[in-house]
Amino acid sequence: MRLVLLGAPGAGKGTQAKKLIEKYGIPQISTGDILRKAVADGTPLGREAKSYMDRGELVPDSVVIGLVKERLGQDDCKKGYILDGFPRNTAQAEELDKLLNELNMPLDVALSVDVPFDDLMKRLTGRRTCRNCQQMYNIYFSPPKKDGVCDKCGGELYQRDDDKEETIRNRLEVYQRSTAPLIDYYKAKGILRSVDGRGSIEEIFNRICEILDGAAKNQ
Ligand code: AP5
Ligand code: MG
Repeated sequence: MRLVLLGAPGAGKGTQAKKLIEKYGIPQISTGDILRKAVADGTPLGREAKSYMDRGELVPDSVVIGLVKERLGQDDCKKGYILDGFPRNTAQAEELDKLLNELNMPLDVALSVDVPFDDLMKRLTGRRTCRNCQQMYNIYFSPPKKDGVCDKCGGELYQRDDDKEETIRNRLEVYQRSTAPLIDYYKAKGILRSVDGRGSIEEIFNRICEILDGAAKNQ
């Protein structure tokens, strides 16, 4: 399965990707996770990316495209991949198409996870992530058993720097302006599928699996 997950900040791309990794045994490529790791490690890439991320702006295309190129070339992507947070605009989508043609592994599905804008702010301000195993929680919807501590590994939970209300507003604006047009881009290519992103994490996962299993049968 070769998949792009589309959706606004907070739509649940990362949450669903983690479940899809388990079911399909294919890697998640999250440009946001790769960039956050570079920031935490203090690499030159991280230093360049940080100021954009803190403002909720997109990191320059050349930087992100380079990262994805390198990652998709690795062996574990041969059996499929889940792109999460990439592409983010038409220029990235066009570069991706070119690259995937060269690698002879074109996309099967672009899946848009649709959540009403009003629900996104609470999902994002309530998000907490484990520093150790990256498990995600939400203090409103799926809190850990003990405040600030990961249920799975006991690691410390942290709040992302860009999950402040003002930055979230800008991320949502950037999404509307730059990323939402990709829905039409993939519709025109005939590979767009949409899923209702409201309800429990499990309900949404079941809907997604139905769509992906249907798409696999039609290949
Ligand atoms: P990125 O990391 O990609 O963030 P994003 O797109 O803003 O999306 P999020 O990760 O915030 O949301 P999500 O959809 O993954 O939701 P999640 O599953 O966590 O990008 C961050 C920054 O990096 C960008 O602003 C940019 O600067 C840079 N960047 C990244 N990629 C780039 C690119 N390609 N080009 C340029 N720059 C790039 O869920 C959110 C919360 O909701 C969690 O708490 C979760 O527990 C909860 N939740 C999930 N599902 C449900 C549910 N069904 N009900 C209730 N709560 C739920
Ligand atoms: Mg995410």
